[in-house]
Amino acid sequence: MRGLEDVIACETSISRIELSGEKTILEYRGYDIRDLAKKSCFEEVVYLLLYGELPKKYELQDFKIELAERRELPPQIIGLLTHLPPYTHPMVVLRTATSYLGSLDKKIDIKTREENLEKAKNLIARFPTVIAYYHRIRMGKNLIPPTLSLGHAANFLYMMHGEEPSKTAEKALDMDLILHAEHELNASTFAARIAASTLADMYACVVAATGTLMGPLHGGAAQEVMKMLREVATPRRAEDYVKNKLKRGERLMGFGHRVYKNVIDPRAELLRKLARKLASEGESKWFQISEAIARAAFKYKKLLPNVDFYSASVYANLRIPDDLFVNIFAMGRISGWLAHIIEQYENNRLIRPRAKYIGKKNRKYKN
Ligand code: ACO
Repeated sequence: MRGLEDVIACETSISRIELSGEKTILEYRGYDIRDLAKKSCFEEVVYLLLYGELPKKYELQDFKIELAERRELPPQIIGLLTHLPPYTHPMVVLRTATSYLGSLDKKIDIKTREENLEKAKNLIARFPTVIAYYHRIRMGKNLIPPTLSLGHAANFLYMMHGEEPSKTAEKALDMDLILHAEHELNASTFAARIAASTLADMYACVVAATGTLMGPLHGGAAQEVMKMLREVATPRRAEDYVKNKLKRGERLMGFGHRVYKNVIDPRAELLRKLARKLASEGESKWFQISEAIARAAFKYKKLLPNVDFYSASVYANLRIPDDLFVNIFAMGRISGWLAHIIEQYENNRLIRPRAKYIGKKNRKYKN
């Protein structure tokens, strides 16, 4: 089966995707993502993914504080961010910093449930700081330390831009992180689970996932979408652009999905609404171009947008640089990766499939 399409490779109780007729189900731990996107916050979703249940009010309060208190980076990591060449892609930075965080953790090999959760909370809390600090360092700007008074999403925007975000921007990023938090056995989560199945340490598993997410056929697609929006530049050029690209047999980034073939990715639907809201209150150009591209993609090849398509105009409106788009994805998805890594550790069997050999056989060795 090329690309392991439709192969069931593990059991999980973390998320469920079900395509039944018109209705597409996507649930985290049994809760519809539409409800979570509307009513929850990212920290609550992280709690749900890690612990399996929604927190009580006081538990959420404590959890938010606990995450916020873990945001600052060890000085060695700040040193690393300062020494990396400023042209390093921020995802390369993220996986390098993750590895370095592992080298600083004296309990790296301890895998009790308590210690796994400890590591997970540290990583989730620190990902945004690594991203924002590196961005400011490469821009030659001063570092803005995290603040305890803001939630996970708002604090990231604050560390990036040096000012507190508007309520709209805060809610938009928060919802975006919820929508990116988890998605069953996508490629990066599978990579994390394969690493976990060898009983590699948690940092190694997250490095494997981070490296896998970066590819343009996975999370790297959103940066490519933005490139396309810039190339198209105006909605009236969208149709020709799409038609010609498809005629040349090229892929349209932000479209198509291994699981959602003929139905819309529910996350794309929610992100479209979010992008439209941000466009109505700020820069509308990117959303209008996106809409024109989506219409043409459907007209010429019945292609539907995936989670990365409308993310691009959402991020552009939040003043996030193009090459950080995939890092924002990672900021959300790390919670799903960690839930899967812990699930794998707790009921482990080495993941080791077989390959069908199609090469030459029985050749005589001659020197
Ligand atoms: N642009 C043009 N044609 C496409 C696209 C696309 N984005 N996606 C699928 N197709 C077409 C293929 O050409 C193929 O058509 P054909 O049968 O006429 O040859 C058909 O749809 C099936 O495509 P596959 O490559 O078999 O689909 P697969 O499930 O292997 O790929 C993938 C899924 C990689 C996501 C693909 O749709 C793609 O390359 N999309 C663009 C990159 C992208 O947006 N990635 C993000 C995915 S979401 C995520 O990871 C978070």
